[in-house]
Amino acid sequence: MTQNLNVFINATRFSAAPTMHVDAFSHAELSRALAFHRSIPGYAPTPLVSLPRLSQRLGVKSLHVKDESARFGLKAFKVLGGAYAMAWHISELVGEDIGKLPFEVITSDKVRNSIGEVVFATTTDGNHGRGVAWTARQLKQKAVVYMPRGSSEERLAAIRREGAQASIVDMNYDEAVRMSATEAEKNGWLVVQDTAWTGYEKIPLWIMQGYGSLMLEAMQQLHEVPPTHIFIQAGVGSLAGMVQGMVTSAWGKDRPKVIVAEAAVADCLYRSSRNADGRAVAVGGDLATVMAGLACGEANSIGWNILRDYSTAFASCPDFVATRGMRILGNPLPGDPAVISGESGAVTTGLLSILMQSPAHTATREALALNEDSRVLVVSTEGDTDPQRYRDIVWDGEIPSKQHP
Ligand SMILES: Cc1ncc(COP(=O)(O)O)c(C=O)c1O
Repeated sequence: MTQNLNVFINATRFSAAPTMHVDAFSHAELSRALAFHRSIPGYAPTPLVSLPRLSQRLGVKSLHVKDESARFGLKAFKVLGGAYAMAWHISELVGEDIGKLPFEVITSDKVRNSIGEVVFATTTDGNHGRGVAWTARQLKQKAVVYMPRGSSEERLAAIRREGAQASIVDMNYDEAVRMSATEAEKNGWLVVQDTAWTGYEKIPLWIMQGYGSLMLEAMQQLHEVPPTHIFIQAGVGSLAGMVQGMVTSAWGKDRPKVIVAEAAVADCLYRSSRNADGRAVAVGGDLATVMAGLACGEANSIGWNILRDYSTAFASCPDFVATRGMRILGNPLPGDPAVISGESGAVTTGLLSILMQSPAHTATREALALNEDSRVLVVSTEGDTDPQRYRDIVWDGEIPSKQHP
């Protein structure tokens, strides 16, 4: 392992005049998504787990983990976005506001018969596609799902079990996104992609707003007292962009500090943040990392603009950061509950632990004002979505973190 953990403090741009509006992530907008999700049978807020012993050990005041492994039985937060965007699309076909179309109505035979067949197409590392496939099944519609080279067979099988036509293609994530958009165009399918690019913004914005439900739930669980720091992981930056947009909209200058964590091999936001002209930088190649959900080398254009203007820091995290986080959460200190957190889910806990405990990161810790007054929120965005991989890492010690600073 040659890679190091690198953190860039976004101070230069932080003080510059922001250009991005965050109204799309206001409380009112995100509440519409939450109202829709609440209408889905089986809906329950995912747990917000407090880890007092760990926070004491790390030297922060409190640490809360929003545990998305419990989301609709799908083990990841992603369905929040796909389901909301697909519902919006159908509500537009029907000509009704989404507020008037709860899940029961949108999945009814009446709506199905009135709109006819819709084929939803997407590219995924696993979690997003599973959410799209699950939603398509509820809507009695079809889903075509592509997965990049190196994708997990277990994750592929989980998507097929939801009834989708799913396959692994010999391309990286970003190439597969472009291919699926072309295939969709040819076949008249609707692209439900969890990232935006110029000219493709409507559906990804709905997806980002859909993710907002997890933040509204977390704030309710925190009795509306904002944390001082939020650590959030990013692939393309849709989730992180929503988090940053939401806290900026809600608290303005008094917002929590947001620290964005990426997989080092796919650290497009970290690299973009260091790019003097503020334009997004793409990362190519195989993007091989245990953090499958974060293996995306091209930023969401909406998310990047918000993160560039408002985020506190960007971290480029080698795999050992994620595996350390998985082991910490799965093997708690006495008195703390265990959280089953997958590779992409645990990287933020791993990052916090290293920043707080490693002498090599003292300056970063101080620059971020991470100390005994800090109230930290992390989101465990997935559970053991690849159970065998989870055991290889947590039981058998794959990708050790001991020797790394
Ligand atoms: C488990 C998990 N966490 C985090 C992310 C990152 O989200 P985004 O691509 O919006 O940055 C993903 C994306 O698929 C994911 O599956």
